[in-house]
Amino acid sequence: MKLTILGGGGFRVPLVYGALLADRGEGRVTRVVLHDLDDSRLNAVARVLGEQAAAVPDAPEVTATTDLDEALRGADFVFSAIRVGGLEGRADDERVALAQGVLGQETVGAGGIAYGLRTVPVAVDIARRVARLAPDAWVINFTNPAGLVTEAMSRHLGDRVIGICDSPVGLGRRIARVLGADPKEAWIDYVGLNHLGWVRGLRVAGRDELPRLLADPGLLGSFEEGKLFGVDWLRSLGAIPNEYLHYYYFNRETVQAYQQAEKTRGAFLADQQARFYEEMKRPGAAALSAWDRTRAEREATYMAENRESAGAGERDADDLSGGYEKVALALMRAIARDERTTLILNVRNQGTLSVLDADAVIEVPALVDANGAHPVSVAPLPEHATGLVCAVKGVEREVLAAAESGSRATAVKAFALHPLVDSVNVARRLVEGYTDVHPGLAYLR
Ligand code: G6P
Ligand code: MN
Repeated sequence: MKLTILGGGGFRVPLVYGALLADRGEGRVTRVVLHDLDDSRLNAVARVLGEQAAAVPDAPEVTATTDLDEALRGADFVFSAIRVGGLEGRADDERVALAQGVLGQETVGAGGIAYGLRTVPVAVDIARRVARLAPDAWVINFTNPAGLVTEAMSRHLGDRVIGICDSPVGLGRRIARVLGADPKEAWIDYVGLNHLGWVRGLRVAGRDELPRLLADPGLLGSFEEGKLFGVDWLRSLGAIPNEYLHYYYFNRETVQAYQQAEKTRGAFLADQQARFYEEMKRPGAAALSAWDRTRAEREATYMAENRESAGAGERDADDLSGGYEKVALALMRAIARDERTTLILNVRNQGTLSVLDADAVIEVPALVDANGAHPVSVAPLPEHATGLVCAVKGVEREVLAAAESGSRATAVKAFALHPLVDSVNVARRLVEGYTDVHPGLAYLR
Protein backbone atom coordinates (compact mmCIF):
# COMPACT_ATOMS: atom_id res chain seq x y z
CA MET A 1 0.00 0.00 0.00
CA LYS A 2 1.60 3.23 -1.17
CA LEU A 3 0.78 6.55 0.46
CA THR A 4 2.02 9.77 -1.11
CA ILE A 5 2.15 12.84 1.12
CA LEU A 6 2.12 16.15 -0.74
CA GLY A 7 3.60 18.82 1.46
CA GLY A 8 5.84 16.04 2.74
CA GLY A 9 8.28 18.55 4.22
CA GLY A 10 5.51 19.97 6.41
CA PHE A 11 5.82 20.25 10.15
CA ARG A 12 2.83 18.03 10.91
CA VAL A 13 3.98 15.08 8.77
CA PRO A 14 5.59 13.25 11.74
CA LEU A 15 2.12 13.14 13.33
CA VAL A 16 0.82 11.26 10.31
CA TYR A 17 3.80 8.93 10.25
CA GLY A 18 3.38 8.29 13.99
CA ALA A 19 -0.21 7.20 13.35
CA LEU A 20 0.99 4.88 10.55
CA LEU A 21 3.62 3.35 12.84
CA ALA A 22 0.95 2.51 15.39
CA ASP A 23 -1.16 0.73 12.78
CA ARG A 24 -0.31 -2.98 12.81
CA GLY A 25 -3.41 -4.10 10.90
CA GLU A 26 -3.79 -6.02 7.66
CA GLY A 27 -3.47 -3.92 4.50
CA ARG A 28 -1.65 -1.11 6.28
CA VAL A 29 0.57 1.39 4.50
CA THR A 30 3.96 -0.11 3.67
CA ARG A 31 5.47 2.70 1.58
CA VAL A 32 5.40 6.43 2.16
CA VAL A 33 6.54 8.87 -0.49
CA LEU A 34 7.10 12.42 0.68
CA HIS A 35 6.79 15.11 -1.94
CA ASP A 36 7.72 18.74 -1.44
CA LEU A 37 9.07 21.57 -3.56
CA ASP A 38 11.74 22.29 -0.97
CA ASP A 39 14.53 19.76 -0.65
CA SER A 40 15.81 20.98 2.69
CA ARG A 41 12.36 20.72 4.28
CA LEU A 42 12.06 17.19 2.90
CA ASN A 43 15.42 16.27 4.40
CA ALA A 44 14.46 17.71 7.78
CA VAL A 45 11.21 15.77 7.98
CA ALA A 46 12.76 12.57 6.59
CA ARG A 47 15.29 12.71 9.43
CA VAL A 48 12.50 12.98 12.01
CA LEU A 49 10.65 10.04 10.44
CA GLY A 50 13.87 8.02 10.38
CA GLU A 51 14.25 8.47 14.14
CA GLN A 52 10.57 7.69 14.71
CA ALA A 53 10.94 4.42 12.79
CA ALA A 54 14.18 3.35 14.46
CA ALA A 55 12.58 1.28 17.21
CA VAL A 56 9.65 -0.04 15.18
CA PRO A 57 9.92 -3.32 13.30
CA ASP A 58 8.40 -3.28 9.77
CA ALA A 59 8.08 0.50 9.81
CA PRO A 60 6.72 1.80 6.48
CA GLU A 61 9.57 2.57 4.11
CA VAL A 62 10.03 6.30 3.46
CA THR A 63 11.37 7.93 0.31
CA ALA A 64 11.37 11.60 -0.66
CA THR A 65 11.23 13.37 -3.99
CA THR A 66 10.69 16.82 -5.47
CA ASP A 67 9.21 15.28 -8.65
CA LEU A 68 5.42 15.44 -8.34
CA ASP A 69 4.59 12.96 -11.11
CA GLU A 70 7.03 10.42 -9.77
CA ALA A 71 5.48 10.81 -6.31
CA LEU A 72 1.95 10.28 -7.62
CA ARG A 73 2.51 7.35 -9.96
CA GLY A 74 1.06 4.15 -8.51
CA ALA A 75 -0.17 5.75 -5.28
CA ASP A 76 -3.10 4.08 -3.50
CA PHE A 77 -3.69 7.11 -1.30
CA VAL A 78 -2.58 10.69 -1.73
CA PHE A 79 -2.61 13.00 1.29
CA SER A 80 -2.58 16.58 0.17
CA ALA A 81 -1.28 18.83 2.93
CA ILE A 82 0.38 21.65 1.06
CA ARG A 83 0.68 25.29 2.08
CA VAL A 84 1.04 27.45 -1.02
CA GLY A 85 3.21 30.44 -0.12
CA GLY A 86 4.29 28.84 3.14
CA LEU A 87 3.73 30.31 6.58
CA GLU A 88 5.07 33.65 5.33
CA GLY A 89 2.17 33.63 2.89
CA ARG A 90 -0.22 32.93 5.76
CA ALA A 91 1.25 35.83 7.72
CA ASP A 92 0.69 38.12 4.70
CA ASP A 93 -2.91 36.86 4.36
CA GLU A 94 -3.50 37.84 7.97
CA ARG A 95 -1.63 41.16 7.88
CA VAL A 96 -3.13 42.64 4.69
CA ALA A 97 -6.68 42.01 5.93
CA LEU A 98 -6.04 43.43 9.40
CA ALA A 99 -4.56 46.56 7.79
CA GLN A 100 -7.93 47.06 6.09
CA GLY A 101 -9.76 46.62 9.38
CA VAL A 102 -11.22 43.20 8.57
CA LEU A 103 -10.49 39.74 9.93
CA GLY A 104 -7.03 38.44 9.05
CA GLN A 105 -7.12 34.71 9.66
CA GLU A 106 -5.79 31.57 7.99
CA THR A 107 -9.07 30.18 6.60
CA VAL A 108 -11.94 32.54 7.47
CA GLY A 109 -12.89 35.83 5.82
CA ALA A 110 -10.53 37.85 3.66
CA GLY A 111 -7.42 35.88 4.67
CA GLY A 112 -9.11 32.62 3.74
CA ILE A 113 -10.15 34.02 0.35
CA ALA A 114 -6.60 35.12 -0.42
CA TYR A 115 -5.32 31.71 0.64
CA GLY A 116 -7.96 30.04 -1.52
CA LEU A 117 -7.11 32.16 -4.56
CA ARG A 118 -3.46 31.13 -4.24
CA THR A 119 -4.15 27.48 -3.54
CA VAL A 120 -6.93 26.50 -5.94
CA PRO A 121 -4.83 26.65 -9.15
CA VAL A 122 -2.16 24.46 -7.53
CA ALA A 123 -4.74 22.00 -6.16
CA VAL A 124 -6.42 21.75 -9.57
CA ASP A 125 -3.07 20.97 -11.19
CA ILE A 126 -2.51 18.21 -8.64
CA ALA A 127 -6.02 16.82 -9.21
CA ARG A 128 -5.45 16.67 -12.96
CA ARG A 129 -2.16 14.83 -12.47
CA VAL A 130 -3.74 12.35 -10.05
CA ALA A 131 -6.54 11.68 -12.56
CA ARG A 132 -3.89 10.91 -15.16
CA LEU A 133 -1.20 9.10 -13.17
CA ALA A 134 -3.07 7.43 -10.32
CA PRO A 135 -6.71 7.27 -11.42
CA ASP A 136 -7.63 4.69 -8.77
CA ALA A 137 -6.07 6.59 -5.89
CA TRP A 138 -8.10 8.18 -3.12
CA VAL A 139 -7.12 11.74 -2.34
CA ILE A 140 -7.44 12.87 1.25
CA ASN A 141 -7.31 16.62 1.30
CA PHE A 142 -6.27 18.59 4.34
CA THR A 143 -4.98 21.51 2.39
CA ASN A 144 -6.82 24.59 3.62
CA PRO A 145 -9.24 26.18 3.03
CA ALA A 146 -10.22 22.51 3.09
CA GLY A 147 -13.85 22.72 1.92
CA LEU A 148 -13.11 25.04 -0.98
CA VAL A 149 -9.98 23.15 -2.05
CA THR A 150 -11.80 19.80 -1.87
CA GLU A 151 -14.55 21.21 -4.08
CA ALA A 152 -11.99 22.49 -6.60
CA MET A 153 -10.36 19.05 -6.76
CA SER A 154 -13.71 17.22 -6.92
CA ARG A 155 -14.38 18.90 -10.26
CA HIS A 156 -11.59 16.68 -11.62
CA LEU A 157 -11.70 13.69 -9.29
CA GLY A 158 -15.37 13.39 -8.36
CA ASP A 159 -15.91 11.61 -5.06
CA ARG A 160 -12.35 10.24 -5.08
CA VAL A 161 -11.27 13.32 -3.16
CA ILE A 162 -12.42 13.61 0.44
CA GLY A 163 -11.64 16.59 2.66
CA ILE A 164 -10.80 16.29 6.32
CA CYS A 165 -10.57 18.56 9.34
CA ASP A 166 -9.95 17.86 13.00
CA SER A 167 -12.29 20.53 14.37
CA PRO A 168 -15.70 18.75 14.18
CA VAL A 169 -14.44 15.57 15.82
CA GLY A 170 -12.68 17.59 18.52
CA LEU A 171 -15.87 19.53 19.20
CA GLY A 172 -17.95 16.34 19.37
CA ARG A 173 -15.43 14.81 21.75
CA ARG A 174 -15.52 17.82 24.08
CA ILE A 175 -19.32 17.85 24.15
CA ALA A 176 -19.50 14.10 24.81
CA ARG A 177 -17.00 14.38 27.65
CA VAL A 178 -18.75 17.26 29.36
CA LEU A 179 -21.93 15.17 29.23
CA GLY A 180 -20.13 12.20 30.74
CA ALA A 181 -20.61 10.15 27.57
CA ASP A 182 -18.06 8.01 25.75
CA PRO A 183 -17.14 9.96 22.59
CA LYS A 184 -16.89 6.66 20.69
CA GLU A 185 -20.49 5.81 21.52
CA ALA A 186 -21.91 9.21 20.59
CA TRP A 187 -23.59 10.11 17.31
CA ILE A 188 -22.83 13.73 16.50
CA ASP A 189 -25.43 15.58 14.48
CA TYR A 190 -23.12 18.11 12.82
CA VAL A 191 -23.48 19.87 9.48
CA GLY A 192 -22.32 22.96 7.60
CA LEU A 193 -19.25 23.91 5.61
CA ASN A 194 -15.65 23.39 6.75
CA HIS A 195 -14.96 25.69 9.72
CA LEU A 196 -18.63 26.76 9.54
CA GLY A 197 -20.76 24.06 11.11
CA TRP A 198 -22.99 23.43 14.13
CA VAL A 199 -23.59 20.51 16.46
CA ARG A 200 -27.38 20.31 16.79
CA GLY A 201 -27.57 17.09 18.76
CA LEU A 202 -25.50 14.36 20.35
CA ARG A 203 -27.22 11.02 20.60
CA VAL A 204 -26.14 8.27 22.94
CA ALA A 205 -28.09 5.02 22.56
CA GLY A 206 -30.65 6.87 20.45
CA ARG A 207 -31.26 9.62 23.01
CA ASP A 208 -30.31 13.23 22.34
CA GLU A 209 -28.21 14.45 25.28
CA LEU A 210 -27.56 17.98 23.97
CA PRO A 211 -30.74 19.48 25.52
CA ARG A 212 -29.40 18.40 28.92
CA LEU A 213 -26.22 20.40 28.26
CA LEU A 214 -28.08 23.47 26.97
CA ALA A 215 -30.34 23.42 30.03
CA ASP A 216 -27.47 23.41 32.49
CA PRO A 217 -25.54 26.71 32.59
CA GLY A 218 -22.88 25.28 34.91
CA LEU A 219 -22.13 22.41 32.59
CA LEU A 220 -22.38 24.58 29.50
CA GLY A 221 -19.93 27.13 30.89
CA SER A 222 -17.43 24.50 31.88
CA PHE A 223 -16.00 23.57 28.50
CA GLU A 224 -14.13 25.38 25.77
CA GLU A 225 -16.99 26.38 23.48
CA GLY A 226 -19.09 27.43 26.48
CA LYS A 227 -16.36 29.86 27.50
CA LEU A 228 -15.66 30.96 23.95
CA PHE A 229 -19.24 31.80 22.95
CA GLY A 230 -20.81 32.37 26.36
CA VAL A 231 -23.63 30.36 27.90
CA ASP A 232 -26.40 32.78 26.90
CA TRP A 233 -25.45 32.84 23.24
CA LEU A 234 -25.25 29.05 23.04
CA ARG A 235 -28.69 28.79 24.61
CA SER A 236 -30.05 31.34 22.14
CA LEU A 237 -28.61 29.34 19.27
CA GLY A 238 -29.77 26.00 20.65
CA ALA A 239 -26.68 24.44 19.10
CA ILE A 240 -22.92 24.37 19.64
CA PRO A 241 -21.05 26.10 16.81
CA ASN A 242 -17.64 25.12 15.52
CA GLU A 243 -15.06 27.34 17.25
CA TYR A 244 -14.37 29.09 13.91
CA LEU A 245 -17.84 30.67 14.12
CA HIS A 246 -16.39 32.86 16.84
CA TYR A 247 -14.96 34.92 13.97
CA TYR A 248 -18.52 35.60 12.78
CA TYR A 249 -20.38 35.99 16.06
CA PHE A 250 -17.67 38.06 17.75
CA ASN A 251 -16.02 39.56 14.72
CA ARG A 252 -15.39 43.07 16.00
CA GLU A 253 -13.68 41.91 19.18
CA THR A 254 -11.48 39.42 17.33
CA VAL A 255 -10.41 41.92 14.70
CA GLN A 256 -9.45 44.39 17.42
CA ALA A 257 -7.57 41.78 19.42
CA TYR A 258 -5.71 40.56 16.34
CA GLN A 259 -4.84 44.10 15.30
CA GLN A 260 -3.35 44.75 18.72
CA ALA A 261 -1.44 41.47 18.89
CA GLU A 262 2.31 41.74 18.59
CA LYS A 263 2.38 39.04 15.91
CA THR A 264 -0.23 37.20 13.93
CA ARG A 265 -0.48 33.44 14.40
CA GLY A 266 1.08 32.89 10.97
CA ALA A 267 4.02 35.20 11.73
CA PHE A 268 4.59 33.48 15.06
CA LEU A 269 4.57 30.02 13.47
CA ALA A 270 6.75 31.15 10.56
CA ASP A 271 9.50 32.24 12.98
CA GLN A 272 9.14 29.25 15.20
CA GLN A 273 9.28 26.70 12.41
CA ALA A 274 12.06 28.46 10.55
CA ARG A 275 14.19 27.82 13.64
CA PHE A 276 13.37 24.10 13.50
CA TYR A 277 14.23 23.76 9.80
CA GLU A 278 17.41 25.77 10.34
CA GLU A 279 18.46 23.49 13.19
CA MET A 280 17.88 20.46 10.95
CA LYS A 281 20.53 21.71 8.54
CA ARG A 282 23.16 20.97 11.18
CA PRO A 283 24.50 17.46 10.64
CA GLY A 284 24.11 15.34 13.75
CA ALA A 285 21.32 17.42 15.30
CA ALA A 286 18.78 15.22 17.12
CA ALA A 287 15.80 15.50 14.79
CA LEU A 288 12.96 13.92 16.73
CA SER A 289 13.65 15.76 19.96
CA ALA A 290 13.99 19.08 18.12
CA TRP A 291 10.69 18.43 16.36
CA ASP A 292 9.01 17.43 19.61
CA ARG A 293 10.26 20.50 21.42
CA THR A 294 9.00 22.79 18.65
CA ARG A 295 5.63 21.03 18.64
CA ALA A 296 5.24 21.35 22.42
CA GLU A 297 6.03 25.07 22.18
CA ARG A 298 3.47 25.51 19.43
CA GLU A 299 0.80 23.74 21.44
CA ALA A 300 1.56 25.73 24.56
CA THR A 301 1.10 29.00 22.70
CA TYR A 302 -2.10 27.71 21.16
CA MET A 303 -3.47 27.11 24.63
CA ALA A 304 -2.21 30.44 25.92
CA GLU A 305 -3.75 32.22 22.96
CA ASN A 306 -7.07 30.54 23.56
CA ARG A 307 -7.09 31.41 27.21
CA GLU A 308 -6.33 35.05 26.56
CA SER A 309 -8.57 35.73 23.62
CA ALA A 310 -11.53 33.71 24.75
CA GLY A 311 -11.04 32.91 28.38
CA ALA A 312 -11.14 29.29 27.32
CA GLY A 313 -9.58 26.49 29.32
CA GLU A 314 -6.79 24.25 28.30
CA ARG A 315 -7.37 21.66 25.67
CA ASP A 316 -6.44 18.12 26.41
CA ALA A 317 -3.62 16.47 24.55
CA ASP A 318 -6.02 14.61 22.29
CA ASP A 319 -7.53 17.83 21.01
CA LEU A 320 -4.15 19.19 20.15
CA SER A 321 -2.43 16.27 18.57
CA GLY A 322 -5.19 13.66 18.25
CA GLY A 323 -6.64 15.50 15.41
CA TYR A 324 -6.32 15.23 11.76
CA GLU A 325 -3.85 12.37 11.47
CA LYS A 326 -6.31 10.12 13.32
CA VAL A 327 -9.16 11.17 11.05
CA ALA A 328 -6.92 10.55 8.03
CA LEU A 329 -5.88 7.11 9.23
CA ALA A 330 -9.45 6.09 10.15
CA LEU A 331 -10.62 7.18 6.71
CA MET A 332 -7.84 5.30 4.92
CA ARG A 333 -8.46 2.13 6.89
CA ALA A 334 -12.19 2.21 6.27
CA ILE A 335 -11.59 2.51 2.52
CA ALA A 336 -8.66 0.08 2.28
CA ARG A 337 -10.20 -2.65 4.46
CA ASP A 338 -13.86 -1.96 3.82
CA GLU A 339 -14.29 -1.33 7.56
CA ARG A 340 -17.54 0.58 7.74
CA THR A 341 -17.33 3.65 9.88
CA THR A 342 -18.85 7.12 10.19
CA LEU A 343 -16.64 10.20 10.10
CA ILE A 344 -17.38 13.91 9.71
CA LEU A 345 -15.91 14.71 6.31
CA ASN A 346 -15.95 17.20 3.47
CA VAL A 347 -17.84 15.55 0.64
CA ARG A 348 -20.18 16.54 -2.17
CA ASN A 349 -23.61 17.48 -0.91
CA GLN A 350 -25.65 15.11 -3.12
CA GLY A 351 -28.92 16.54 -1.82
CA THR A 352 -28.03 16.44 1.88
CA LEU A 353 -28.68 20.16 2.35
CA SER A 354 -31.49 20.95 -0.05
CA VAL A 355 -30.53 24.63 -0.30
CA LEU A 356 -27.21 23.73 -1.98
CA ASP A 357 -26.62 22.00 -5.30
CA ALA A 358 -25.39 18.40 -5.53
CA ASP A 359 -21.74 19.32 -6.22
CA ALA A 360 -21.29 21.75 -3.34
CA VAL A 361 -18.80 20.30 -0.87
CA ILE A 362 -20.17 20.35 2.67
CA GLU A 363 -18.96 19.04 6.03
CA VAL A 364 -21.23 16.30 7.34
CA PRO A 365 -21.15 12.83 8.89
CA ALA A 366 -20.47 10.33 6.13
CA LEU A 367 -20.54 6.56 6.00
CA VAL A 368 -17.22 5.27 4.74
CA ASP A 369 -16.46 1.91 3.19
CA ALA A 370 -14.46 0.56 0.25
CA ASN A 371 -16.66 2.60 -2.09
CA GLY A 372 -15.77 5.88 -0.46
CA ALA A 373 -17.66 8.37 1.71
CA HIS A 374 -21.42 8.81 1.51
CA PRO A 375 -23.07 11.70 3.34
CA VAL A 376 -25.84 10.66 5.72
CA SER A 377 -29.12 12.51 5.66
CA VAL A 378 -29.45 15.22 8.26
CA ALA A 379 -32.14 17.63 9.42
CA PRO A 380 -32.10 21.01 7.64
CA LEU A 381 -30.22 23.89 9.26
CA PRO A 382 -32.16 26.77 10.80
CA GLU A 383 -32.50 29.85 8.59
CA HIS A 384 -29.72 31.90 10.20
CA ALA A 385 -27.24 29.05 9.63
CA THR A 386 -28.54 28.38 6.12
CA GLY A 387 -28.00 32.08 5.40
CA LEU A 388 -24.34 31.96 6.43
CA VAL A 389 -23.68 28.66 4.67
CA CYS A 390 -25.21 29.92 1.41
CA ALA A 391 -23.39 33.26 1.61
CA VAL A 392 -20.01 31.61 2.18
CA LYS A 393 -20.63 28.92 -0.46
CA GLY A 394 -21.47 31.77 -2.85
CA VAL A 395 -18.11 33.36 -2.04
CA GLU A 396 -16.31 30.04 -2.55
CA ARG A 397 -17.90 29.74 -5.98
CA GLU A 398 -16.59 33.21 -6.90
CA VAL A 399 -13.11 32.16 -5.74
CA LEU A 400 -13.31 29.06 -7.95
CA ALA A 401 -14.50 31.19 -10.87
CA ALA A 402 -11.70 33.73 -10.36
CA ALA A 403 -9.09 30.96 -10.17
CA GLU A 404 -10.39 29.45 -13.38
CA SER A 405 -10.76 32.65 -15.40
CA GLY A 406 -7.98 34.71 -13.82
CA SER A 407 -10.45 37.59 -13.56
CA ARG A 408 -9.51 40.26 -11.06
CA ALA A 409 -13.08 41.59 -11.07
CA THR A 410 -14.32 38.17 -10.00
CA ALA A 411 -11.74 38.12 -7.21
CA VAL A 412 -13.03 41.52 -6.03
CA LYS A 413 -16.55 40.07 -6.12
CA ALA A 414 -15.47 37.13 -3.94
CA PHE A 415 -14.08 39.45 -1.24
CA ALA A 416 -16.95 41.93 -1.50
CA LEU A 417 -19.64 39.28 -1.03
CA HIS A 418 -18.09 37.79 2.09
CA PRO A 419 -20.19 38.53 5.21
CA LEU A 420 -17.03 39.66 7.06
CA VAL A 421 -15.97 42.22 4.41
CA ASP A 422 -18.05 45.34 4.90
CA SER A 423 -17.52 47.35 1.72
CA VAL A 424 -16.84 46.84 -1.96
CA ASN A 425 -14.10 49.46 -1.65
CA VAL A 426 -12.43 47.40 1.05
CA ALA A 427 -12.64 44.38 -1.27
CA ARG A 428 -10.87 46.35 -4.02
CA ARG A 429 -8.11 47.40 -1.65
CA LEU A 430 -7.76 43.81 -0.44
CA VAL A 431 -7.21 42.57 -3.99
CA GLU A 432 -4.61 45.30 -4.48
CA GLY A 433 -2.90 44.53 -1.19
CA TYR A 434 -2.82 40.81 -1.81
CA THR A 435 -1.65 40.97 -5.42
CA ASP A 436 1.15 43.30 -4.26
CA VAL A 437 2.55 40.78 -1.79
CA HIS A 438 1.69 37.38 -3.28
CA PRO A 439 3.52 36.26 -6.45
CA GLY A 440 1.02 33.38 -6.52
CA LEU A 441 -1.73 35.87 -7.40
CA ALA A 442 -0.01 37.29 -10.46
CA TYR A 443 -2.49 35.37 -12.59
CA LEU A 444 -5.30 37.79 -11.67
CA ARG A 445 -5.78 40.30 -14.48
C1 G6P B 1 -7.11 23.45 13.30
C2 G6P B 1 -7.86 23.51 11.99
C3 G6P B 1 -6.89 23.51 10.84
C4 G6P B 1 -5.97 24.69 10.99
C5 G6P B 1 -5.26 24.64 12.35
C6 G6P B 1 -4.47 25.89 12.59
O1 G6P B 1 -6.42 22.24 13.40
O2 G6P B 1 -8.75 22.44 11.84
O3 G6P B 1 -7.62 23.58 9.65
O4 G6P B 1 -5.02 24.72 9.97
O5 G6P B 1 -6.19 24.52 13.39
O6 G6P B 1 -3.64 25.71 13.69
P1 G6P B 1 -2.29 26.55 13.82
O7 G6P B 1 -1.61 25.95 15.01
O8 G6P B 1 -1.55 26.35 12.52
O9 G6P B 1 -2.72 27.96 14.04
MN1 MN C 1 -9.52 22.47 9.75
